[in-house]
Amino acid sequence: MRQLNWINQDVISTINMEKNDMEQVFDVADTLRPVAEGREKSRALEGKILGNLFYESSTRTRLSFESAMLRLGGGCTGFADPASSRAVTKGFEQKELLDDMIRVVEKYVDIIVIRSLHDGSAELSANYASVPVINAGDGRNEHPTQALLDLYTIRHEKKNIDGLKIVQLGCLNVSRSQRSFAFAVSKYDVDLVFLSPKKYAFGRDALNKIEKNLGHKPTVVTSSKALPTIADADVIRVTFGIQPINARTLQKAKNDLIVLHPLPRGPEVARDVDSTPHAVYFREVFNGLCTRMALLSLILGSVK
Ligand code: CP
Repeated sequence: MRQLNWINQDVISTINMEKNDMEQVFDVADTLRPVAEGREKSRALEGKILGNLFYESSTRTRLSFESAMLRLGGGCTGFADPASSRAVTKGFEQKELLDDMIRVVEKYVDIIVIRSLHDGSAELSANYASVPVINAGDGRNEHPTQALLDLYTIRHEKKNIDGLKIVQLGCLNVSRSQRSFAFAVSKYDVDLVFLSPKKYAFGRDALNKIEKNLGHKPTVVTSSKALPTIADADVIRVTFGIQPINARTLQKAKNDLIVLHPLPRGPEVARDVDSTPHAVYFREVFNGLCTRMALLSLILGSVK
């Protein structure tokens, strides 16, 4: 099996990642947990600078990349609001186009993390950048580091990803994190179920890729009365949809079911789920820090 050499690798999509590549990230993330907690110090990325270009709002992704870099001894620059940069029109001045922005920012930093409203903008940025580019969410397309932290959370909670029944629940075809997660988790030997309203089911193009990865067809359920399909699930990954879950819904679930959510949540996960043993979404936040520390370490060459 071909394996990624993570050094200087762009992270645009999960589609080109193999199971071994992801497991390598998770192994490094495990070793970095004490550094992420602040119990151990690291200077592994001293002298390296991360550039955060956030054209769209974010709490978790932007702050966790910054925290990851700082915990590893590196530095950060960038913008959280494009209005504070030349990326928007100001008075009579033309806004700075993305390709020019990338060819400027790359001179200041060792790695670029970009979030944009537009599908394909991370790939476009990577085409212009001489430094690695990480996609922090591009339109409705992909959010690969969210998928990695979800998988890392499953591995951390369940010890193994293979053999699990995993349900993706929500408006799947408009969710970049659900798409990246489906591409990534389908590299594992899992029983995968997609549960969404019919008009929000994954399209044929995405399904073809997922089927190719899995080696068989995932189960696709588009009935609005389909929540019973979660009864024997090991993992539910929820994003916005029309079928909210609450503590009562989960009474019929397996005792060790875990509920993932990328946050911020809407009404799709009721607050009474928080106090059940199923809720792991706030633990995911810490796992996201560990996962992003691992990615930065691998890409910038501080671990082999
Ligand atoms: N999960 C996630 O991407 O959150 P933010 O939008 O806050 O980065």
